[in-house]
Amino acid sequence: MIRFDDSKNVFHLCTPETSYIIGIYDEGLLLNLYYGKRLPDNDLWYLSRRQSCASFSPCDPVLAPTGFSVDVAPMEYPTNGRGDFRVSAVSVLNSDGNTVTDLRYEGYRIYPGKPDMPGLPHLYVTDQSQCDTLEITMRDPYTNLTAVLVYSVFHDCDVLTKHVRFRNDSPVPLKLCRVMSSCVDLPEMQYDLVTLYGRHAKERQFVRRPLAHGLQGIRSVRGSSSHAQNPFAALAQKGATETTGNVYGFHFIYSGNYEITAEVDFNATTRILMGIQDTDFQWELLPGESFLTPEAVHVFSDQGIGGMSRMFHRAYNDHLIRGVWQYRKRPLLINSWEAAYFDFDTDKLIAFAKQAKELGIELLVMDDGWFGKRNNDTNSLGDWFVNRQKLDLGRLIDTVHAMDMKFGIWYEPEMISPDSELYRAHPDWCVHVPGRVPSLARHQYVLDVSRKDVRDNIFDQMRSVLDKYTIDYLKWDFNRNLSEAGSAALDSAHAQEFFHRFVLGTYELQDRLTTTYPQLLLENCSGGGGRFDPGMLYYSPQIWTSDNTDPIERLMIQFGTSLCYPASTMGAHVSACDRTGYATKGNVALWGTFGYELDPCKLDDETKALVKQQVQEYHKYYDLIHTGDLYRLICPWENPFCCAWSFVSRDRKETLVTVVRMRHEEQTLFHLKLQGLDPQRYYQLEGNGAVCSGALLMYAGVDVADSVDNDGDSIKLHFVAVDKPDTDERTR
Ligand code: GLA
Repeated sequence: MIRFDDSKNVFHLCTPETSYIIGIYDEGLLLNLYYGKRLPDNDLWYLSRRQSCASFSPCDPVLAPTGFSVDVAPMEYPTNGRGDFRVSAVSVLNSDGNTVTDLRYEGYRIYPGKPDMPGLPHLYVTDQSQCDTLEITMRDPYTNLTAVLVYSVFHDCDVLTKHVRFRNDSPVPLKLCRVMSSCVDLPEMQYDLVTLYGRHAKERQFVRRPLAHGLQGIRSVRGSSSHAQNPFAALAQKGATETTGNVYGFHFIYSGNYEITAEVDFNATTRILMGIQDTDFQWELLPGESFLTPEAVHVFSDQGIGGMSRMFHRAYNDHLIRGVWQYRKRPLLINSWEAAYFDFDTDKLIAFAKQAKELGIELLVMDDGWFGKRNNDTNSLGDWFVNRQKLDLGRLIDTVHAMDMKFGIWYEPEMISPDSELYRAHPDWCVHVPGRVPSLARHQYVLDVSRKDVRDNIFDQMRSVLDKYTIDYLKWDFNRNLSEAGSAALDSAHAQEFFHRFVLGTYELQDRLTTTYPQLLLENCSGGGGRFDPGMLYYSPQIWTSDNTDPIERLMIQFGTSLCYPASTMGAHVSACDRTGYATKGNVALWGTFGYELDPCKLDDETKALVKQQVQEYHKYYDLIHTGDLYRLICPWENPFCCAWSFVSRDRKETLVTVVRMRHEEQTLFHLKLQGLDPQRYYQLEGNGAVCSGALLMYAGVDVADSVDNDGDSIKLHFVAVDKPDTDERTR
């Protein structure tokens, strides 16, 4: 719900439990008055405008007599060069050659639903009644740049989204140099900044640090959201835990260069900005042209970090993931990569499929190595035709389908090998700048998908395979970052648009693919989870979480990923890695879109029996894991010995708890306290039949010490609500 109080000039944007409040101050300055737990409507005018002036802070020329400086005010969308010395949200190079920018309020519009964002991924609604939108029009009186600030609030979750639509209403070109999607100005600094850093095979590691005066934050300039920092940050109130305290979550729906910056100023206030990273970003806006920033997502929870995560999970399952696979059960897959790498042929893959089918696996994915002349990673990216010397694709797919299994294939569409027919025909199609030899990574260049002719070529090549064969699943990889970032198709006036145009090109290609083949299940990947971001999730409902399939290492990765991404999106496979036994590997992989990444023909009988059991468990717990609420009971960043998590059904009648011993610890007592249950209800433990109250399970805990004693041990506890037993029965 969004209300405007025109007597007080205050906008109140509400989700069920939160309020976001914007005030129009004198001279059309827009102030960010409040974000947090929901407030009543009637006294919002008393929110502080922090309108004192500070020494050395310039005052607005008209408001100078009353002493108002933008440098100390909570600015809703701060601009460059007008005396606010904190990081600005927008900076525009005008025809005079300076970047002074000044946006003033012009008008507003409130309407049900959410506007489309052509070419950009965003949260969506299926019914206008699911959310309301406020558009505030701001204009720079000197340059005639218009900025429409667009806010949407959801009614079924505590989520606020923001983006900005710029339009050049002047007769001369303007250059956008910095265009953030969101700014939030909080009045204090008593927060910890939580972010997810990483690298290849070690993605999304939790880090929490206190805010300090000055600048801090994360960014990517790699051309993708990257392994190094996920485009996510949270501000957790000092002392906030998994279960308690105020937490703000910020997430950027974008797969390219971005920044999330927190600045604490001399008044100990905190400004958080989210948007496209401005290194190597400029965008020419000709008269009448528009530019849309990507969407920023905001969540506030007073239920700790766990509460914030559950809100992201619901929002993404219901309003980000799209298409027929949004709620459809995902097939349990086996992937050929760790089983064979490049060393496979038709018969080997058929043998995998036969054995996998016997175990109950539903989808065979043929990974890298099926095209061009590719038998290693030095060639053929860009040559998306079947390597007939290696493979009879028709026979393979027919055999797999005849077994009533599905078939999947691997692509890396945004890459080109120097040793490829495509490169020899179009050397200028790789990402490069004049006069410099492009750098190699994994023996490959990046393909310039900012160009439509290049995208058309790649898509036509993909179509010639996808139209000829029945392919049910496609894994879309991206195995290097961008350097010498430029396009032969962009002149020097537009060269700095390349990075953003590249991302838009990727989105257009994925959109074309999913629109042309709506039944296709798309899984994104980037050397594991190097492009695990909400932008990619708009096109593919699942993403390969990490190339690291070691079940213990995976715990940190999956726990970190779960901060903002639901289980339904996390590709998690059991591999041959022998760090633990298969039981624990299965228990860890069950937290995600389950699958196998090994040669099934090499499994012994005992393991095969276990795999069959895991397949059954996958079906049994699918709904609970994919639609239930996640509770991180013991996080590996807090406890180096043991971790635990649970899924609780929305009706709180069922929970599946998993505990993993990472390292043996000399202690005999271990009471695991569950979360999210109904304290009044009774729950029966599957297996031993014990019936306990939700209160006992949550407040006193369950003793699990004996079950997870040694390194790599794990257990699952499945509780289902039952009628309250009579006392006699319980004491027996
Ligand atoms: C990346 C992926 C792997 C596999 C290889 C193939 O590293 O993360 O799963 O597909 O590429 O080259």
